[in-house]
Amino acid sequence: MVDRPTALEDPLDGRTALVTGASSGIGAATARVLAEDGADVCLAARRVERLESLADEIRDATDAAVSVVPTDVTDSDAVRALVDATVERFGSLDIVVCNAGLGIDKPVAELTDEEYRLMTGVNVDGMFYTAREALPHLEASEGNLVFLGSMSGNHPRPHNPVYAATKWWVRGFASSLQGSIGEENVGVTCVNPTEVRTEFGSESGETLEASFEEGEVTEAIEVADAIAYAVRQRSPNTVLSLDLYRRDKLSHF
Ligand SMILES: NC(=O)c1ccc[n+]([C@@H]2O[C@H](COP(=O)([O-])OP(=O)(O)OC[C@H]3O[C@@H](n4cnc5c(N)ncnc54)[C@H](OP(=O)(O)O)[C@@H]3O)[C@@H](O)[C@H]2O)c1
Repeated sequence: MVDRPTALEDPLDGRTALVTGASSGIGAATARVLAEDGADVCLAARRVERLESLADEIRDATDAAVSVVPTDVTDSDAVRALVDATVERFGSLDIVVCNAGLGIDKPVAELTDEEYRLMTGVNVDGMFYTAREALPHLEASEGNLVFLGSMSGNHPRPHNPVYAATKWWVRGFASSLQGSIGEENVGVTCVNPTEVRTEFGSESGETLEASFEEGEVTEAIEVADAIAYAVRQRSPNTVLSLDLYRRDKLSHF
């Protein structure tokens, strides 16, 4: 028999993970899974009560050390302070999951300046600020940087072109960044799911959690598990792109 590196009992033991958008959905599930896999975790988002309650849940269920840093990722100073606070608390940064994101479903002709800026501010600027501040620490730890892309970043999304464009940006940024920092031994991953049952869509009135029954589409825990697989990859390997699609999605595309 051989040792399977991705089948270790606590594969992320001794590593520190920072997750943005950890107050709900995919981010919250990812924080739970990374902590179960042995990582200490820093939880960031705007809703502090949600983060505190998740932190308590993770501390009760695992041996992980957990910190909460309320952060708006559209504020570059706040993101810098988040990364500094994480490194100060845990001594290093090994895994960063740039997850905070949102979509406002409206025809382009009806999208206001504020709605456009909100989507691009969180989905593009927020991802950039988080990656930029984290990079020196990830180079020092030879760590893993994960972005939440989307199927909408691989294909056109006629009912929300601006959201789709932000996710095309994320995928382009992720692969070019891998090109520029691969020699520093940082692994970059862009995870591209189809619909996930979360609070996504709340800005447009109806969440995906409310729109789909259990079993119809992907669950947040399943995306979190895919992220956990990606961040178990150590040098020389990376999962550059991970498309987690509903099996019937391309049938209706
Ligand atoms: N659900 C899907 O079908 C789906 C599919 C493909 C990709 N994705 C991507 O997956 C990621 C997570 O989405 P989700 O489905 O888990 O949605 P969600 O349940 O609505 O979670 C979104 C998270 O982003 C955070 N966030 C929003 N604006 C923020 C800001 N300015 N600063 C900091 N945090 C902010 C929210 O926290 P606060 O409100 O507390 O700040 C929340 O924790 C997004 O990037 C999304 O585009 C989702």
